[in-house]
Amino acid sequence: MTTISRRSFVKTLPLGAATLTAVGPSAILAQEQAAIPDAFASDAELKPLPFEPDQLDGLSEKIISSHWKNNYGGSVRALNTIKQRLQAALADDDLPAFVYNDLKREHLMRTGSVVLHEYYFDNMAPPGSRDAGLDSDLARAFGSVETWEREFRRIGAGLGGGSGWVMLAWNMPAQTLENYWMWDHMHAPAASVPILVMDMYEHSYHMDYGTATGQYIDAFVRNINWNVVAERLNNALTG
Ligand SMILES: [Fe+2]
Repeated sequence: MTTISRRSFVKTLPLGAATLTAVGPSAILAQEQAAIPDAFASDAELKPLPFEPDQLDGLSEKIISSHWKNNYGGSVRALNTIKQRLQAALADDDLPAFVYNDLKREHLMRTGSVVLHEYYFDNMAPPGSRDAGLDSDLARAFGSVETWEREFRRIGAGLGGGSGWVMLAWNMPAQTLENYWMWDHMHAPAASVPILVMDMYEHSYHMDYGTATGQYIDAFVRNINWNVVAERLNNALTG
């Protein structure tokens, strides 16, 4: 297998540099400082679905809407609550650190759930065409597109009846494109950029397929937004 090389691309003038000329460095500094939200901010809202929930092939409006509103939405709301509790707990000098870390564990888990669900819904769409450049990269990384898909599906099948995620990711330190098994929201490959994410928690398919995990995986693959996946990989390779 050959190493994936960074794509050549035309660098445009960075926005910061352009604005620097127009408004001066102090204004830029203020803008950049304002761009980092409060770590304890607790007003996050649900990110809208990028497609109509009744438009996917083989995944019902009922399950998509329920998944988005109840599972993903539940984690968004829980994360807001946890951040409020963390801020209050941090001010309590008498609170044992290990008790504080009970909240930090929940913070980590809910953060993973929110982030992964947003990647998941964003990499789905009504069936569309594949991306030739992406297929070429997959073939270079895995030997063939079929081998990549065989492993991606195999990992999902292994998570059937339980919980977890399958992730195609760009491993930044290793400079490799690999499929990863994740048994919950907290066990992500280190320093890796998500390229394609598949939810294997039962709530993502049980309402439509019961225990027929393979049928869900078939439906998921039919509804991959290949344009989004290709764009993510491009950004990872050139960013
Ligand atoms: Fe989910």
